[in-house]
Amino acid sequence: MTRLATPKSPSAENAHYAKDRLNGETRLYGVLGHPVAQSLSPAMHNAAFRATGLNAAYLPFPVAPHLLNEAVKGLVAVGVGGFNLTVPHKTAILPLLDEILPEARAVGAVNTVRNDNGRLIGANTDGVGLLASLEKDLAFTPHGKTVLMLGAGGAARGIAFALLTSGVGRLVIANRTMEKAEALAADCQTHFPQQQVDPAALDNLAGLAPHLLVQTTTVGMGDGKSPLDLEPLGVSDAVVDIIYHPLETPLLAQAKKLGLATCNGIGMLLYQGTAAWRFWTDREPPVEVMRKALLEAMG
Ligand code: ATR
Repeated sequence: MTRLATPKSPSAENAHYAKDRLNGETRLYGVLGHPVAQSLSPAMHNAAFRATGLNAAYLPFPVAPHLLNEAVKGLVAVGVGGFNLTVPHKTAILPLLDEILPEARAVGAVNTVRNDNGRLIGANTDGVGLLASLEKDLAFTPHGKTVLMLGAGGAARGIAFALLTSGVGRLVIANRTMEKAEALAADCQTHFPQQQVDPAALDNLAGLAPHLLVQTTTVGMGDGKSPLDLEPLGVSDAVVDIIYHPLETPLLAQAKKLGLATCNGIGMLLYQGTAAWRFWTDREPPVEVMRKALLEAMG
């Protein structure tokens, strides 16, 4: 004779499992990139969903550039709550969106999309992530200050617009390829005509004496190199390096030796994530839970 198992009343442990379990009401989020397996975003966002009890999950989606359109249509068709975009999709996503928030439109890149019943709204939280890190990790207020930014690539563009939005008095953009520094500075100047934006050569920065240096190039990412010698610059307050692997680049190590306040890229990564999470859920994100998850995922 067969007998149906009688459901047991859930133990505390089982109740916890049931709360975390994926089920028919789970809302899906994710990150589209190529490659994407190294992304730390799933650890950070899933920790936030668990800590707040939201029935949601966040997955990495490896999407080749030529399949972005199909992937986005598919995500809308299955009703995802939203998604992030990383390299190489941050610009390619623009024509696929129904609405682009003003700062993302100005920057020309979107890293976060919210799905409002099939209507896709794009935002860029990278720049606000950097600003939040300046405020919370360094207690640095950019308004009226002189900031030197190294680099003129995709990351630099979002950061430059965010710094200018927050009222930086003078922004100097220094890059290995001078033409790119000039092009970015000219574009920034068009959007922010009241503020001073100057391009500069990397080897012509001695005595500039900025309050803050923001390092956005890929130099120092595991190559043991620094994009420049910090000492002749005369930075007065702080140095931020948006690299987070390693946690301390040679540039940050030198900044510490010079007695400057320093901050690595974990803060920017964390706060772009908390801003995305807030955009999706309309709730306050559990910041410390997300920070801990990021650091744990980095080992
Ligand atoms: P991201 O999206 O991460 O900003 P990117 O758009 O490829 O990446 O930009 C990389 C930045 O790092 C650029 O400013 C690049 O300088 P160039 O415009 O001269 O290429 C800078 N960079 C990369 N390798 C460099 C190196 N060895 N020395 C100095 N700058 C370097």
